[in-house]
Amino acid sequence: MLILSVESTCDETAVAVTENGRRVLTDQIFSQADLHAVYGGVVPEIASRSHVEVISRLADRAVETAGVGKHDLDAIAVSYAPGLIGAVLVGVNFAKSAAMALDIPLIPVHHVRGHIAANYLAFPELEPPFLCLAISGGNTMLVDVRDYTDMRVLGRTRDDAAGECFDKSARVLGLPYPGGAPIDALARTGRDDAYVLPRPAVGENPYDMSFSGLKTAVINLAHHAEQTGEPLDAPGLAASLCRAISEMLVSRTMAAAAELGYKKIAVAGGVAANSRIRADFQKAAEAAGAALYIPPLRLCGDNAAMIGSQGYYEYLAGHTAGTDLNAYATMEL
Ligand code: KG4
Repeated sequence: MLILSVESTCDETAVAVTENGRRVLTDQIFSQADLHAVYGGVVPEIASRSHVEVISRLADRAVETAGVGKHDLDAIAVSYAPGLIGAVLVGVNFAKSAAMALDIPLIPVHHVRGHIAANYLAFPELEPPFLCLAISGGNTMLVDVRDYTDMRVLGRTRDDAAGECFDKSARVLGLPYPGGAPIDALARTGRDDAYVLPRPAVGENPYDMSFSGLKTAVINLAHHAEQTGEPLDAPGLAASLCRAISEMLVSRTMAAAAELGYKKIAVAGGVAANSRIRADFQKAAEAAGAALYIPPLRLCGDNAAMIGSQGYYEYLAGHTAGTDLNAYATMEL
């Protein structure tokens, strides 16, 4: 089954063609990062307008590079929630029109389910059930993936996403947007015990997380150094931040794996590109005798192939939509 899939929930416009949820024929991504960098974060209206400009051309290019004809496509999948509402609407409207014009099914896909499915593209042998930590710029959740479309959120951030913590911390360190990758690079030259940063536990659910206190701690350290003229050890702060975030994520994931008896652990989302987090998970999984799945970097960030992968399984489960499909800024997994 050939699916053309669309992703436009934030600042990447992406269109892919995938086969049977596992094979990528093409994965076209247009990143708007340069448009937003000057503002230090995503400007929603600029994101929506850029999606409108780019999406049709990108879809044409996707079909062309996949080497298929439009009429070979069996369905259109689209990331319809959660995300910046104006941005999501562009993808949803495009997908609806394409499905209508080609008279093929329309499949709505939850963006975070897509991130989880990136692992199906990277690891052909991976099948549910498994445990997945989904960490991105807008979402941070620990998910019990019982089946391809049957998932239970075990814990989530109570405030900021892990990626938000990286991005805002990077800003006060004078690093470009998006800040996760630059912090990662800077951290490699610093000591991870240079600063003692908070690792808050929240409420009664041991799998819930919080990153806003950590973000504030980094911002305060940077402002304090600026105001007093004391030198700031930026590489040390970056390394200490990566360590703190990694420890919070890895400890909760491994505790959940032990409690639920999972020996298959996956990580997904843009923050899964972080080298400290990848290395810490590697060690923890090895110690626990668990198999670890983390997609290659290009499948960690937003892309449309992951939407096509999850879309295939949603289709098999009968989850299609009519022309009244809407876009949503928030949605439960
Ligand atoms: O999954 P994604 O592309 O978009 C969302 O669905 O939100 O994730 C983007 C996030 C940004 O916060 C970015 O700074 C972060 O992923 N990120 C990283 C790294 N590469 C990207 N965070 C930490 N270390 C990295 N190497």
